[in-house]
Amino acid sequence: MKSELLLVLVLSLCVSSKPLSKKRTYNKLLLISFDGFRWDYDQDVYTPNLDELVKEGAKAKYINPPAITMTSPSHFTTITGRWIEDHGVVHNLMFNTSTGKIIPHKGTLKQSEWWDNGALPLWITAQNQGLKTASFFYPGGGVNYTGQAVYRSLVLSQNHPDDNETEWKQNIDTVMRWYTEEDFHFVALYYGEPDNVGHAKGPETPERRKIIEQIDRTIGYLRDAIHKNSLTDRLNVIITSDHGMTTVKKSPEVEEIKLNKYMSFLNLSQFELLDYGGYGMITPKQGKEKEVYDALKNAHPNLKVYKKEEIPEHFHIAKNKRIQPIVLFADLGFNLNSRIILYINKGDHGFSNDEMDMKMIFRAFGPDFKKNFLAEPFDSISIYPLMCKLLGVIPEPNNGSLSDTKGMLVDDSDAGERIKVSLTLLIMMLISNII
Ligand SMILES: *[C@@H]1O[C@H](CO)[C@@H](O)[C@H](O)[C@H]1NC(C)=O
Ligand SMILES: *[C@@H]1O[C@H](CO)[C@@H](O)[C@H](O)[C@H]1NC(C)=O
Ligand SMILES: *[C@@H]1O[C@H](CO)[C@@H](O)[C@H](O)[C@H]1NC(C)=O
Ligand SMILES: *[C@@H]1O[C@H](CO)[C@@H](O)[C@H](O)[C@H]1NC(C)=O
Ligand SMILES: *[C@@H]1O[C@H](CO)[C@@H](O)[C@H](O)[C@H]1NC(C)=O
Ligand SMILES: [Zn+2]
Repeated sequence: MKSELLLVLVLSLCVSSKPLSKKRTYNKLLLISFDGFRWDYDQDVYTPNLDELVKEGAKAKYINPPAITMTSPSHFTTITGRWIEDHGVVHNLMFNTSTGKIIPHKGTLKQSEWWDNGALPLWITAQNQGLKTASFFYPGGGVNYTGQAVYRSLVLSQNHPDDNETEWKQNIDTVMRWYTEEDFHFVALYYGEPDNVGHAKGPETPERRKIIEQIDRTIGYLRDAIHKNSLTDRLNVIITSDHGMTTVKKSPEVEEIKLNKYMSFLNLSQFELLDYGGYGMITPKQGKEKEVYDALKNAHPNLKVYKKEEIPEHFHIAKNKRIQPIVLFADLGFNLNSRIILYINKGDHGFSNDEMDMKMIFRAFGPDFKKNFLAEPFDSISIYPLMCKLLGVIPEPNNGSLSDTKGMLVDDSDAGERIKVSLTLLIMMLISNII
C-alpha cells in the first residue's frame, strides 16, 4: 500500500473516531444531597431501594468531603469543583471580625456577598452555555453570582421542617414537572436529613435508622416517578451528601475542651467562631497571636492548633482571607467550647475529613452510568467535572479530576484520550508501513 493512501485512511479513521465533534444530545441530570448521610448509614437498616440502586447503577465505597466538613463549605465544593480556599465559603456561619456580627446558616442563604467570591457554581456556568438549571433548597442556590441569579431557585425558610415525608415526595413531583413540562436540564435538590436527626439524637440511634428508612422510601418514590414520567432513558441521578456524623463525647467519659481554661478571651481575642462542633477559628487581638497560640498549642490532648501559615497545604483552606490567624480542630467527637459548656448536640461533624465517620455516600444511576459498578473512594470535588461531562458543559477551571469518576460511565473515555489513541495508531501504522 502506498504511504499516502495509508495516511488518508488513518486520518479519516481519526476523524470518524471523534463522535464528540458531532452534535450530540446530552441527558438531563439530577443531583440530590441528603445532608449528613454518612457512608455506612445503609448498613444497619433495611434499605431495599438503595440496594436496588447498587444493581442499577454505580456506587462508591465512600467519598471524602473537603477539609471543613460542614454543610455550606462542602456543598459549595461539590457545586463549584473548587477547594474551600478558592470558593471562600469557609463556615456555615457568615461573620465579620471587626463588628463581631455572626449570621446563622439559614440567614446566609440569601446573602450574595457570602457566596459570590469568584468561583462559579455549575448552575450559572451551565446557564451561560444555554442550559436551564434550578436549585431546590441547595446551599448557595439563592444568591447572585456576578449579578446573575440561578434561573429557578427555592430557598429554605427559617423554620422549614426537615423530616416531612409528604413534602419530600411533593418536592420530587415538582422536580419531575420541571424536567417534563419545562425542559430543565439540571436540578440540584437538597434534603436536611439525616443531618438533623444525627445532631439531635446521635448517629447510633433508632431515630437515625428510622430516618434512613424514610430516605429509602423516598428513593423508591423517586425511581417510580422517573419511570412514570418516561425519564428513565433521559435522566441521570447522582445521590450524595456533604459530610458524615459522629457521636459527641461528653464528660465524665472524657475531659471536654473548654478553651477559657487556657486563655482569656477578654484579654486576647478580638473575635472567635467556636461552640460549633470540632472546627473553630480565633482572631487574636492586635499583637496577641503568639500568646493565643502558645496558650492553646499543648493545652488539651484532643485539640489541634494551627497558625494560619502552618495549616497543611493538602487541607486546601489556608489561602483564603476569611481563614483567621488561629485555626482549631478538635479530635473526633470533641466540641470546641469557649467559655461554658452549653452544647446540646448528641451527634456532630466538622472533624477531620480523614476520619471515617466524616465520609459520605455516593450513588448514581441513569442511562450514562454503568450498572452494578463499585467505584473506589474519591474526593467529592471530582463530582463537578463528572456533572459537566454528563451535561456536555465546558467546565470552569476547577480542582476536581474526571479520572476519579469517569470509570462509572458507560462511555468512560474522554476527548483527549481519543485523540491520543488515534495518534498512536497513526504512528504505529506509518512505522509498520516503512518497515
Ligand atoms: C465588616 O463590617 C465593616 C463595618 O460595617 C465593613 O466595613 C467591612 O467591610 C466588613 N468586613 C467584611 C469582611 O465583610
Ligand atoms: C439578585 O439580583 C436580582 C436582580 O438584580 C435582585 O432582584 C435580587 O434581589 C438579587 N438577589 C440577591 C439574593 O441578592
Ligand atoms: C407536611 O407537608 C405536607 C405537604 O406540604 C403538609 O400538608 C403538612 O401540613 C406537613 N406536615 C407538617 C407536620 O408540617
Ligand atoms: C487580663 O488583663 C488584665 C490587665 O492586664 C489582667 O489584670 C488580668 O489578670 C488578665 N486576665 C486574665 C484572665 O489573664
Ligand atoms: C484549584 O483550581 C484553581 C483554578 O484552576 C487553581 O487556580 C488553583 O491553583 C487550584 N488549586 C490547587 C491546590 O491546585
Ligand atoms: Zn449538620
